[in-house]
Amino acid sequence: MSDTVLEARNLRVLYRTKRGPVHAVDGVSFDLRAGETLGVVGETGSGKSTLGKAVLGILPPGTTKEGELLFERKNLLTLPDGQLRRLRGKEIALIFQDPMTRLDPLMTIEDHFLETIRAHESVSAEEARERTRAALASMGIPESRLKNYPHEFSGGMRQRIMIAMGVVMRPKLLVADEPTTSLDVIVEGQILEILEDLKRAYGMSLLLITHNLGIVAEVCDTVGVMYAGLFVEYGPVRDVFKRPIHPYTRGLLASIIHLDSSELVSIDGLPPDLVTPPAGCRFHPRCPYVQDVCRTTAPEWVEYRPGHFALCHFGRDFL
Ligand SMILES: Nc1ncnc2c1ncn2[C@@H]1O[C@H](COP(=O)(O)OP(=O)(O)O)[C@@H](O)[C@H]1O
Ligand code: SF4
Ligand SMILES: [Mg+2]
Repeated sequence: MSDTVLEARNLRVLYRTKRGPVHAVDGVSFDLRAGETLGVVGETGSGKSTLGKAVLGILPPGTTKEGELLFERKNLLTLPDGQLRRLRGKEIALIFQDPMTRLDPLMTIEDHFLETIRAHESVSAEEARERTRAALASMGIPESRLKNYPHEFSGGMRQRIMIAMGVVMRPKLLVADEPTTSLDVIVEGQILEILEDLKRAYGMSLLLITHNLGIVAEVCDTVGVMYAGLFVEYGPVRDVFKRPIHPYTRGLLASIIHLDSSELVSIDGLPPDLVTPPAGCRFHPRCPYVQDVCRTTAPEWVEYRPGHFALCHFGRDFL
């Protein structure tokens, strides 16, 4: 589709390790359109950050990448480093989980911005300052704080500064990897509102990585539920959350619903080792509905409703 900003087709990422290749992303496909937000949810180790790093082109050297990852039709996996570097920060930007690890303690906030802007565009110092003021103001950080150092801000403010730095170049795509995990609930709410406003104001697309299903329900248009390197379910958020198909998604949703009734039902077992993932359906060792075929044969990606896909032999039974 013409307004697709990011398109993944059978994306694979394999890390090289002493124990053998780690199949961290193992055949993921999705479309992210202009102005929309795709949420990626799943337990720790399911491959979410690897997916984000693939989009930003910041995977470690020696990592194998296969399939296609198209940003405005350019395949990010085969783009020369120089072009990728030009895209990064300008057209595609990243918000990190922990801003403190990314801000230089010896640089003022203003210096961080000036450095970011002038790395990408040759603008006058005055214009760079003006853009910095505007970006910070849109995050509720007053001009009077420009000369402050990172440690002089609260955690929530630092995260807002990071977001302002991410958007100061008006990127078309923002990748946020667990942007609110280190924050308390009130600040988390504020950050989410800011992300929503930004999307509306700039028409940015957002790839939002999180393990928080509540956030996905609030902020995202579509969601990919990731398990062991795969999207086991993918589709419009309302559809996936109201009428989940895959047993893993059903388990995840049940575990948050039951939180309210203080009866914590979590999915038994642990995610698999991605050096030697289970044969057949990767979820089979933990699936309450497992049948013989699940242990031997990998399920196919099936579109059960328009735009709503799942990876389960018995998806039809769960409609
Ligand atoms: N640099 C790396 N080298 C080898 N394995 C890695 C590396 N980074 C992540 N992994 C492995 O890849 C899998 C997916 O990790 P990650 O993408 O960080 O998942 P998530 O963000 O969902 O927690 C895990 O098994 C993790 O141990
Ligand atoms: S394919 Fe089988 S094991 Fe996998 S989720 Fe479906 S029912 Fe469960
Ligand atoms: Mg991660």
